[in-house]
Amino acid sequence: MQSITMRRPDDWHVHLRDGDMLERVVPHTARQFARAIVMPNLAPPVTSIDGAVAYRDRIVSVAGPNFTPLMTAYLTDNVDADELGRGHAEGVWVAAKLYPAGATTNSASGVTDIRNIHPALERMERIGMILCVHGEVTDPAVDVFDREAVFIDRILTGIVRDFPALKVVLEHITTKQAAQFVADAPATVAATITPQHLHLNRNALFQGGLRPHAYCLPVLKREEHRLAVRKAGVSGSPKFFLGTDSAPHAREAKESACGCAGIFNAPFALESYATVFEEEKALDKFEGFASEHGPRFYGLPLNDGTITLERSDQLVPDTVDGLVPFHAGETIGWRVAG
Ligand code: DOR
Ligand code: ZN
Repeated sequence: MQSITMRRPDDWHVHLRDGDMLERVVPHTARQFARAIVMPNLAPPVTSIDGAVAYRDRIVSVAGPNFTPLMTAYLTDNVDADELGRGHAEGVWVAAKLYPAGATTNSASGVTDIRNIHPALERMERIGMILCVHGEVTDPAVDVFDREAVFIDRILTGIVRDFPALKVVLEHITTKQAAQFVADAPATVAATITPQHLHLNRNALFQGGLRPHAYCLPVLKREEHRLAVRKAGVSGSPKFFLGTDSAPHAREAKESACGCAGIFNAPFALESYATVFEEEKALDKFEGFASEHGPRFYGLPLNDGTITLERSDQLVPDTVDGLVPFHAGETIGWRVAG
């Protein structure tokens, strides 16, 4: 196959940041995707309707009219269910994001005990507002590579049981336990998958030395987990869809004694995913994963218009707008046309 033309895709999980960083990164997402679920973990986090509207306006002013940011509310222990409901009714918030406090970048204001947000979850269940979940426990006694699987056992199983009509997206899945949990769960549960968790296992973190640009959260896992996540992603199941988790940090913040978690994969995201689907001989499943399963789960219309990927080798540069992109220095076999 020399080219793929498919319905315009969406990114169901991205970090667009703010200020100067926003200006640098948004064009890469807007070039490929019609819409994106925008994560609210700014400093300070996006917890109010006014804050979300202002952030949305800043994104649109950089991205232009052909890209629609879908905003999320950052859940805290003190979340006000009425404010959530109002923001959803006004069309500001599409979803709310659960960060266990301390799990990742700018999650200090996150949730310390899931019971603190039970009233919010009840409201969300009632009004059809989606819950996006960073699925890792923060218990320091739990090995960092086990935090996703333990979260499923300790927290997520209970959420799905206690709020049976609540739609839940387990974000950026990294383990065979997560892939299995989502596959076996009711139709209210889905998952996003990043390019890095399809391409890399944890060896990539230590390839000839410490590799900060392969560091993200949830951290890369063993090969058996990567293979399970790949199988889920290319399976054609409507429960699995594209969410890059593109998470740019300044180069100095990555290449540091205490480097930040996050991989900037936005510039070549579609090319990266296409490579995986081709390797798995599943290019016929790519459009579903990239352009159909997400909107159907979110209850949003499919996009009009198409995007074309052409087979063409391109060298991924060492830096893009001063940031180190995923696949830097590698040759990738596809190119978004136009
Ligand atoms: O690697 C990550 N980076 N994982 C997250 O959960 C957050 C993100 C960020 O905002 O930097
Ligand atoms: Zn993320």
